[in-house]
Amino acid sequence: MKNETDLTSITQQIVSAGKGILAADESTGTITKRFDAVNISSTERNRRDYREMLFRSIGMKQNIGGVILFDETIKQESDDGTLLKDIIESQGALPGIKVDKGLKSITNSEVEKITDGLDDLDRRCKYYHKLGAKFTKWRALINQGNNLPTRHCIELNMRLLADYASTVQENNMVPIVEPEVLMDGKHTIDECYRNTSVTLEILMKFLDENKVDFNAIILKPNMITSGSENNDADTAETIAEKTVACLLSSVSEKIPAVTFLSGGQSDLQATSNLDMMNKLFKTPWKLSFSYGRALQQSALKLWSGNAKNIQLAQDAFSHRANMNKLAALGKWDKSLETNE
Ligand code: 13P
Repeated sequence: MKNETDLTSITQQIVSAGKGILAADESTGTITKRFDAVNISSTERNRRDYREMLFRSIGMKQNIGGVILFDETIKQESDDGTLLKDIIESQGALPGIKVDKGLKSITNSEVEKITDGLDDLDRRCKYYHKLGAKFTKWRALINQGNNLPTRHCIELNMRLLADYASTVQENNMVPIVEPEVLMDGKHTIDECYRNTSVTLEILMKFLDENKVDFNAIILKPNMITSGSENNDADTAETIAEKTVACLLSSVSEKIPAVTFLSGGQSDLQATSNLDMMNKLFKTPWKLSFSYGRALQQSALKLWSGNAKNIQLAQDAFSHRANMNKLAALGKWDKSLETNE
């Protein structure tokens, strides 16, 4: 693979010293849903002001090593003409880009989906690389419950993820490989373990067949939890033990970093579960975060589209970024959550 050392150093930089990733790559549809929930109108300007507010937060420094952007944001400028991606770099983080185009239906299935975007991926990778992106993201979605997932859906999605990863490495960027086994539903934690482990095993096989350089990817999986509509109360210890066991049985040791998605967990759950894994286990990969909602939701609520609230919202974001950095080092404690 071309420029292997460059790609490896990008990965190392993103997760150095407990740093993790801010997922700020919500599509316009998704960010509009998040804005609607707090009565903010989803204009291009509001989306820019909101993300600029996050990127200028003091807590970006020391805690965030990479930011995943959406197509609109990587080209956006602040009022003083600074590119948002340059603000990210001035904070010591690397800019990345979501390159999948969302989900489309699988023939003969009402629920299962595959991810779109492979057709013109090479061309778009060249374009984003020129704009300064150092890494990329592609999310595959696997539903659970009611006899799902099917093996067919897992195989289709993992094949696409592996093809995506080789195209991105050929274009000198680090692929974040995100097979999200969705938390929604009534399934048990053990069903989540089985579904995730099959998904990851198939993914590793296809990545290997594609000769993807494992040293230059970041894996972004879900944690092993029971479904969001299941009443079982999982402790952080149980989630940590099952998640690490699942990864150890299926994920290549060559992968340098595993950065979890938050997937609908509360801010505190996402932090506490990551911390517990790092307290209890020494793993072949760095275990860190690549959170969207669990980093942003308190800040978004406080900001509410009003410039007067910028400081409050930035403080909330900085706090979460710092708590998750501590969790990635196994040094978080609930008593530090003074802002909650
Ligand atoms: P959440 O942490 O909100 O699940 O988002 C992470 C992400 O990037 C999903 O693709």
